[in-house]
Amino acid sequence: MPHVLAKLSVQVLRNNVDFFNIATRANSTFWGGVPMGPPDVILGITEAYKRDTDPKKVNLGVGAYRDDAGKPHILPSVRKAEENLFNRHMNHEYAPIAGDATFTNAVAKLALGEDSPALRNKTNCTVQSLSGTGALRLGLEFVTKHYGGVKELWLPNPTWGNHPQICNMISLPHKKYRYYDPKTHGFDLNGACEDITKMPEGSIILLHACAHNPTGVDPKPEEWKQLSQVIKDQKVLPFFDMAYQGFATGNVDNDAFAVRLFEKEGHHIMLAQSFAKNMGLYGERVGALTFLCPDQETAAKMMSQVKIMIRTIYSNPAINGARIVSEILNNPELNQMWLSDVKEMADRIISMRKELRDGIEGRGNPQKWNHITDQIGMFCYTGLKPNQVERLTKEFHIYLTKDGRISVAGISSKNVDYVAEAIHKVTS
Ligand SMILES: Cc1ncc(COP(=O)(O)O)c(C=O)c1O
Repeated sequence: MPHVLAKLSVQVLRNNVDFFNIATRANSTFWGGVPMGPPDVILGITEAYKRDTDPKKVNLGVGAYRDDAGKPHILPSVRKAEENLFNRHMNHEYAPIAGDATFTNAVAKLALGEDSPALRNKTNCTVQSLSGTGALRLGLEFVTKHYGGVKELWLPNPTWGNHPQICNMISLPHKKYRYYDPKTHGFDLNGACEDITKMPEGSIILLHACAHNPTGVDPKPEEWKQLSQVIKDQKVLPFFDMAYQGFATGNVDNDAFAVRLFEKEGHHIMLAQSFAKNMGLYGERVGALTFLCPDQETAAKMMSQVKIMIRTIYSNPAINGARIVSEILNNPELNQMWLSDVKEMADRIISMRKELRDGIEGRGNPQKWNHITDQIGMFCYTGLKPNQVERLTKEFHIYLTKDGRISVAGISSKNVDYVAEAIHKVTS
């Protein structure tokens, strides 16, 4: 009997091994056609920076705020909001599909302002999203399913690398309009307007609401007015990406100028908001998507469809980040505290821009560097050529993207001299 049992278990084992082999082979056939994707450019830079053991190394690649000691920053207002929430012993029940109304109402007001006609007339459709990226993805996917105009997105040249990537993922055709003028390191208003007049009626234009990534170049108020007019004449739908409200000027109302102007001028804008940068809530993934609609009935229909989309992707949004944002925006004391936290971050960036420019010019560099202080927000498009970027990394252990973009948030009073010296050396 033990002999029979032993034979049986050997057979069972063999069968299992055979099954395992067949399953492995079948799987390798099913997934065999998957090609290796390229690594994410920005995250690749951070990986290379982490591997570098030189004590002088500087990471100017990552688009996240750092304090003057080069450390991630927790905003005092966020800390206080977290304490308040903790003491409230809140439960962890599901949030409504579109997010909590105290959150969506507050964030829409932050972007559109106190006297927004859409908020007054309740013609906005606002939902919580998975940070700015999630708002863009949700909004653009909504376009592919429900938009009655031309399903084609026009992106500024250059733009944040994830914009075209999102379009590719959902098969939404995308094209470029002129935005940055390398000769002036500034905004190419004429080029942009000319390209807009050639866009098909009903197509969609993506606009960075403020602190354009990667160039740090924003249209001036007068230029926004012209853009608004040309876009209106051409009957193009504006989709604002507002990932940096407060980071450009240090004032959230100033930074919402374009969004509020376009609403006043009658555009039915789409808007993606993120609280990653201006509240330092990067990993909380909290943002919002808003559609301004012609009337309440349309807004209700839009809401019903966005909710169906959300339900099938992640069912309902995460609660923690949204509670922090809501606590800050709805508590007047915390709100004031947050406004000064934002200003403090923006001011540090502005002062680093000045020190960097002075540092390069003070060394007698032959080139012009006024664009370092002219550009705003987290990024500066230095104009450094790929070979100069390579030298910065190889010889000086300074990490940045190949297009010469630096995150000014990565500069501190301790490394600004070193960075200025290095840029001076590779450019003179
Ligand atoms: C222009 C732009 N839009 C959107 C985002 C989205 O960021 P998040 O998804 O972290 O909110 C970023 C982040 O770097 C950005 O630079």
